Amino acid sequence: MKKEILRLLMEQDGFISGQQLCDRLKVSRTAVWKAINQLRKEGFEIEAVSNRGYRLLTVPDRLTEAQLFSDMQRSGLFHTELQFYDEIDSTNHQARRLAEKGASHGTIVVAETQTAGKGRRGRSWVSPAGCGIWMSLILRPEISPSKASMLTLVAALGTAEGLREMCGIDCGIKWPNDLVLNQKKICGILTEMSTELSEIRYVIVGIGINVNTEAFPEELLDKATSLKLETGKTWKRSPLIAAIGKRIEEYYQIFLETQDLSQLREAYLSRLVSLHKPVVILSGEESREGICRGIDEGGELLVELPDGRIETVLSGEVSVRGLYGYV
Ligand code: BTN
Repeated sequence: MKKEILRLLMEQDGFISGQQLCDRLKVSRTAVWKAINQLRKEGFEIEAVSNRGYRLLTVPDRLTEAQLFSDMQRSGLFHTELQFYDEIDSTNHQARRLAEKGASHGTIVVAETQTAGKGRRGRSWVSPAGCGIWMSLILRPEISPSKASMLTLVAALGTAEGLREMCGIDCGIKWPNDLVLNQKKICGILTEMSTELSEIRYVIVGIGINVNTEAFPEELLDKATSLKLETGKTWKRSPLIAAIGKRIEEYYQIFLETQDLSQLREAYLSRLVSLHKPVVILSGEESREGICRGIDEGGELLVELPDGRIETVLSGEVSVRGLYGYV
């Protein structure tokens, strides 16, 4: 029924009345109205004018395997395997399942929507259809597991660079891996690893980007934003995914040369929003204040404490004044 209404709206060059829809589909006005609302929720913009009826204004941007494949080829990501799903629990979960079955290094897993998207620290990640990029990369680096956390920083840098290239925007990075615009989060990265003895079996780098999201729930209003809210434009996600994949691949190769961030540190620091600003390090119940002095070659955050000592922070929560509503 919803599909039928959509077909009729698409065929019509202008308005189609509610009565015409009811007559053609032999359904009630309420049923038509409900279907129209469902379509709106899925991202179709439908105008309703009394005495004239309904008119389809825009259709949502839908990801397709064919389009993604062609955009990836155009960007130069030739050797990458693509796994695309209209719906999946979590691209990180799926990437893990594929990796366990032997999926090759560089496989990209993309979904239009996730039903159980995961954020860091056990949080959930809301991943509706039509407005975001939900993707995971399967990597099989021959490096020590102790170096894997740097891959998150590599991915953050690659994603920021891909967004600059395609959209002309310069995101900041909140260490280690949130991308921010105007003090709000636009992208989060979740890196997971499987090891055996002292070797990496695979690393999954999951990237979530709010692209065409128009509104966020109340509790996220001062914390989250999207490309659309910041630029006022709607962005095609498929070429963005390809550009980001390509950039991450390039930075990954640079990282592998030295297996540290020595060649990427300057680029990372130029985006680090907390550089030379006060930060609060939260570890468990404890919190300490200091001034951020950048990162070292291993990707650890350098924080100058009030007594002048420099503390290196490997993981944990770091808050930055002015970000995500933190004052
Ligand atoms: C964070 O908490 O900031 C990390 C969010 C990571 C979300 C992405 S969306 C694609 C991939 N699949 C998931 O379930 N999570 C990551």
